[in-house]
Amino acid sequence: MAEVAEAGVRMPAGSAPASYGTGAKWFHWITVLLLAIALPVGFVIQHIKDDHKTIFYTIHESAGLTILLVALARLAWRLRHPPPPLPPHVPRALQRVAAAVHHSLYALLILQPILGFVATNAWGFPLRGDSAYLGFIDLPQIMEKNEGLAGVLQTLHTIGGWAILVLLVLHVCGVVFHQAIRRDGTLLRMV
Ligand code: HEM
Repeated sequence: MAEVAEAGVRMPAGSAPASYGTGAKWFHWITVLLLAIALPVGFVIQHIKDDHKTIFYTIHESAGLTILLVALARLAWRLRHPPPPLPPHVPRALQRVAAAVHHSLYALLILQPILGFVATNAWGFPLRGDSAYLGFIDLPQIMEKNEGLAGVLQTLHTIGGWAILVLLVLHVCGVVFHQAIRRDGTLLRMV
């Protein structure tokens, strides 16, 4: 079979890397959109004046909890729709790094909202009334106020936020590397 060499990557002529399915693409881009809301809003809340904070909390917490729902649905979907394998010309080491970044992101997209949710309960601000989920859905209060526990959970939530940011940077660097340097069409699998 004829081969073409692009930026050092040899791919069979006319071949395109196997693509993700439509469902996987929707889950991916909805997650990107929700993270683009939850992450920056989370980082700026502490700088917002008290009179305007509630709306920022509602946006952050609602986007964050929706990320949890989407991540769980996405995992369930993935069990029935395994992702296409990476093209064989991607070196083993890179495949391992990509898998580690993806798995860590999945884990954090589930853990981080749970930490945030339990922290708000422990602070004594459950998602009810003014802070209801999406502004109108009261969620159950799962514990009494416990500021000691809340402080620990909040610290873990801050660490989780930074960890997600670092993983996202690595993820985007990976995409840029494949697209601009190796030119192996990996990005096209997800669009
Ligand atoms: C994937 C989802 C989420 C991400 C990526 C995320 C990220 C963040 C980040 C980066 C911060 C700032 C940390 C800091 O600078 O100290 C933050 C703060 C916070 N998050 Fe989240 N979060 C998520 C979900 C949630 C959820 C579901 C809740 C609650 C239901 C929540 C509640 C809070 C609270 C109360 C703060 C403290 C804000 C403040 O007063 O400074 N988060 N979050």
